[in-house]
Amino acid sequence: MKSVLVTGANRGLGLGLIKRIVTHTNQPKYIIGTCRDIEKAKDLQQIAALHPHIKILNLDVRNTETFENFAREVEDIVKEDGLNLLFNNAGYSPKSTRISFLKTEQLTETFQTNVIGPVMLTKALLPLLKKAAENSQKIFSVNSAAVINMTSVLGSIALNKEGGLYPYRCSKAALNMASKSLSLDLKKDGILVTALHPGWVKTDMGGPGAPLQIDESVTHIMNFVENLNETHNGGFYQYDGKKLDW
Ligand SMILES: NC(=O)c1ccc[n+]([C@@H]2O[C@H](COP(=O)([O-])OP(=O)(O)OC[C@H]3O[C@@H](n4cnc5c(N)ncnc54)[C@H](OP(=O)(O)O)[C@@H]3O)[C@@H](O)[C@H]2O)c1
Repeated sequence: MKSVLVTGANRGLGLGLIKRIVTHTNQPKYIIGTCRDIEKAKDLQQIAALHPHIKILNLDVRNTETFENFAREVEDIVKEDGLNLLFNNAGYSPKSTRISFLKTEQLTETFQTNVIGPVMLTKALLPLLKKAAENSQKIFSVNSAAVINMTSVLGSIALNKEGGLYPYRCSKAALNMASKSLSLDLKKDGILVTALHPGWVKTDMGGPGAPLQIDESVTHIMNFVENLNETHNGGFYQYDGKKLDW
């Protein structure tokens, strides 16, 4: 893998993924971490200062009108190598969303961040993903071209036993559907797409009661990602490779 891009890389799982990737023996040539406010992304800046192949780019995934420019910035970094791996990781979950308290804005903002952002960003970065796939004879693997959509088990319709969480559950269910469609549409280009649940993880979103540490989750995720093959295309998996029900 020559290049990887992680959205929402300033904290939580996104930062954990960057930290995990820089410790890998086979280093990608380029590791791109995006965040909404570079000034405030002190932890990410610190890692980038130690590893000059980490590039930090500014991106708010709700601002789809900036994606064309953003794709040019990514191209300036990866050039003819293209982009091997896109982690659509940035995500949002509003608190308290039982039906009686639900606000329209909560649904809108969550869909913008968790569905429209990842789908339109994948579209904007398609030429670079295609380039990477062509460079490696379109073999379905992370060394060719892959999109990992960070979804959630809470987006599973089959596994929903508790209701509530309308913005988050509905947005991740929609992201799951988008992942499936992308996997079918991009198969001919040799681009693999999967929906991946990172587990319930101790982050700002997961909260202190979550059973998994960030390290544990991202170690499993990277093991899974490194072993991706054609059978994973269009699937819904959790961090340890277990297949989940839609
Ligand atoms: N933690 C869990 O238990 C869990 C479980 C299932 C799925 N997930 C998924 O895993 C992914 C990462 O979650 P996390 O636990 O690391 O969450 P987190 O700690 O809350 O971090 C969320 C990240 O997304 C970024 N983000 C939010 N809105 C954004 C926007 N509009 N544009 C760009 N970046 C934005 C945040 O940036 P700012 O700092 O600028 O807000 C932050 O970097 C999410 O997609 C989440 O849904 C997490």
